[in-house]
Amino acid sequence: MADSPRTTDVRAMVVQAHGGPDTLTAHDVHLKAPGPGQVLVRLAAAGVNFVDIYMRRGLKPGPLPFTPGLEGAGVVEAVGPGVSNVQPGDRVAYAQQIGAYAEATLVPADSLIPLPDDVPFEQGAAFPLQGMTAHYLIHEFRKPSEGDVVLVHAAAGGVGLFLVQWARHLGARVIGTVSTQEKAQAVREAGAHDVILYTEQDFAEETLRLTDGHGADLIIDGVAATTFAGNLKAAALRGHIVIFGAASGPAEPISPNVLMERSLSLSGGDLWHFMETRKEMLHRAGAVMEGIEHGWLTPRISRVLPLADAAEAHRLLENRKTIGKILLATGD
Ligand SMILES: NC(=O)c1ccc[n+]([C@@H]2O[C@H](COP(=O)([O-])OP(=O)(O)OC[C@H]3O[C@@H](n4cnc5c(N)ncnc54)[C@H](OP(=O)(O)O)[C@@H]3O)[C@@H](O)[C@H]2O)c1
Repeated sequence: MADSPRTTDVRAMVVQAHGGPDTLTAHDVHLKAPGPGQVLVRLAAAGVNFVDIYMRRGLKPGPLPFTPGLEGAGVVEAVGPGVSNVQPGDRVAYAQQIGAYAEATLVPADSLIPLPDDVPFEQGAAFPLQGMTAHYLIHEFRKPSEGDVVLVHAAAGGVGLFLVQWARHLGARVIGTVSTQEKAQAVREAGAHDVILYTEQDFAEETLRLTDGHGADLIIDGVAATTFAGNLKAAALRGHIVIFGAASGPAEPISPNVLMERSLSLSGGDLWHFMETRKEMLHRAGAVMEGIEHGWLTPRISRVLPLADAAEAHRLLENRKTIGKILLATGD
């Protein structure tokens, strides 16, 4: 049966007004008791994602003030009426519910992923959003076959490193783009065959050179403004481009007729639309956890900062200083 305290006071990072990283400040926040279908999760770690920056800047609609953070891992502290899939004391992870930059948060029970005892909370907070994103990007558009050329932009990023490992696991020839040698090393370690420093080289020309003029069968792009035009040249005949972010800003519009020149296809993706039911979400989370368990998929956690340093975490991420995942330690 429900075991709900009336209210819980927690320390949380709050965005009071849209703007730069300094708009993130620490506050004591009053959480209501979990309502029907809700669960109070005492968080151990929260994942930091690029989308948190868009939200902080005001590029995604939403009310102010708010506590950012769309994923976390921790222990169920209390459950609301009607919740039967978890109970207090259960270890859980989740993605896509705002409010994770906090010591505790309210989450719909349906969005919880059971976290096995041998999976550390840090790993639990590192895989849901970026791992499930990589899963749908790889499987839902043009699933790579053995030998297909897959080009991953910002390949040393959180989603990027998952994509590189997944495409490699499926037998693809993987090319990653990055901005520094250190990132190039991380992408090679993740299994990429080739890495292009797209801040120094024309990645489209280099992709064509590396593939003897064939180009990339699948291009997965969360960078957009600085990469999209090049994608149209780097793609193989009948190649597919997926746009799933805008780390450098939105791409310039093009005429759809441009796609005819190389018989290309183009998609856009948003994780939210690829986990519409609990069954679908658990399928994607399960596939990520299976990859981790079998050893071919490793979430790379580059930094764990205290919750109070959320602004610094944002600075590092938006200034391209991170490799893989950056986490906030939200527990004691
Ligand atoms: N649609 C979805 O379902 C979905 C889900 C998750 C994430 N996303 C998107 O996927 C992208 C990656 O997210 P992430 O959380 O994994 O972040 P991330 O890749 O760890 O960080 C962003 C990376 O983008 C690259 N970048 C290129 N130009 C940049 C610029 N002007 N400013 C900042 N970074 C720039 C940087 O790598 P280099 O230094 O190597 O260039 C940077 O490290 C983001 O666009 C995010 O919004 C979309």
